[in-house]
Amino acid sequence: MFRPMEVVTARACANIALVKYWGKRDALLNLPAAGSLSLTLAALTTETTVQFDEALADDELVLDGAAVPAQAGDVRRLTAFLDLVRAQAGIPIHARVASRNNFPTASGLASSASGFAALAAAATAAAGLELPPRELSILARRGSGSAARSVFGGFVRMHAGSTSDDAYAEPVASPLAERVRMVIAVVGGGAPKSHSSRDAMDHTAATSPMYRAWLDLVPRDLEAAEAALAAGDLERLGVIAEANALAMHASALAARPAVVYWRPATLALLEKVRGLRACGVAAWATMDAGPHVKVLTTVDDASTIAMQLRDLDGVTAVTISAPGGAADVTDGPAGGPADSSPAAADEAPPP
Ligand code: PMV
Repeated sequence: MFRPMEVVTARACANIALVKYWGKRDALLNLPAAGSLSLTLAALTTETTVQFDEALADDELVLDGAAVPAQAGDVRRLTAFLDLVRAQAGIPIHARVASRNNFPTASGLASSASGFAALAAAATAAAGLELPPRELSILARRGSGSAARSVFGGFVRMHAGSTSDDAYAEPVASPLAERVRMVIAVVGGGAPKSHSSRDAMDHTAATSPMYRAWLDLVPRDLEAAEAALAAGDLERLGVIAEANALAMHASALAARPAVVYWRPATLALLEKVRGLRACGVAAWATMDAGPHVKVLTTVDDASTIAMQLRDLDGVTAVTISAPGGAADVTDGPAGGPADSSPAAADEAPPP
C-alpha cells in the first residue's frame, strides 16, 4: 500500500560481466541484442533513499552528497525511470532521491548497475509496489541493461528475451560461488569515462565492421561459460571471460571513430595478469567501459594478485571483492535486517 512521505532505503551491489552486454535490439525498452553473464560484487555498493512527496514540483536528486541540477542528464534519466514506477503504482507524485556509491561514479565500475537496481528496489517499495524479483529485474533494465543483473547475488545470467519486454536476469548456482573472488584495479583515480556505455555500444552497433562477429560470438561464449559454471571449472570460465572482454573491446576499437577505453596502465595490468597466470596463479582479466581491470580469481590467490597490481604505474587503488548478495530494502516498509544484503569487501558470505 502506498503511504505518501514514507522514506525507503535500498542497497544493491555492482556486477561485472564475464560475458558482456554490448548492443541493444530496442533502445526505447532497453532490450539487449544478446544475453550476458555476470558476478555480483560485495565490495561495490550503492545505497539509495526514495521519498515520494506531494509538495514537490519535480523529482530531486542528490548524488554522492551533491544536489544534481534539475536540467542534468542524470535527473532526466531518474525522472524517466520514476515515470515507469509512477505509472505502475498509479501515483502522480514526484520524489526526493539520494544515492551514494562507495566507489567512483560513472567511471566504468558499473555504478549504473548498482544504481538502478537500488533505485528500482527503493522506488517500488516507496510507491507501495511489491514486485517479484523477475519483475524488479525487468524494471531495473529500463534504467540500465546491466542493472537487471544487480537485482540478484552471485553469478547471474541475463536473458536477451524474444518478444516485447521479456528480458530479465536470474541467478545461476555454481560450486564456484564459494571460492571465487574479483580483484579490482582502478586506473587513473576513477575519473569519469570518456564515452557512456550507452552511447558507445550504439555507436559500435552502427559503425563497427566487427559488431556482427561480436553478436555471433556471444551465444557461444554464454553456453560455454554456463557449462564451466555448472562444472565448477574456474579456468574454463576465466579463459572465456578474458577472451570475451577482449572481443567486446575489439568491436569498440573497430568502430568509426574508435571507442578506446584503455590507458597505458590497462595494458600493463593485462600483461601482469598474463605473467601471473604463466606462473600458475589463477588470474583472468576483464574490462568494461573504462580503463580499469578486474581479475577473476580464487580466495587463495586474490591477495597475491592484489599485491602485484598495486605497484603498477597508473593504478590508483586495488580492492578484493567476494560475491555480493541481492538488491534489498534495508530501511522502510519491507526493511529490517536484510539477510541477503551485501557485506563489506571480502567478508561477504557466499550467496
Ligand atoms: O548497463 P550499461 O548500459 O551501463 O552497459 C554495461 C556495459 C558493460 O559494462 C561494458 C558490459 C556489461 O555487460 O556490464
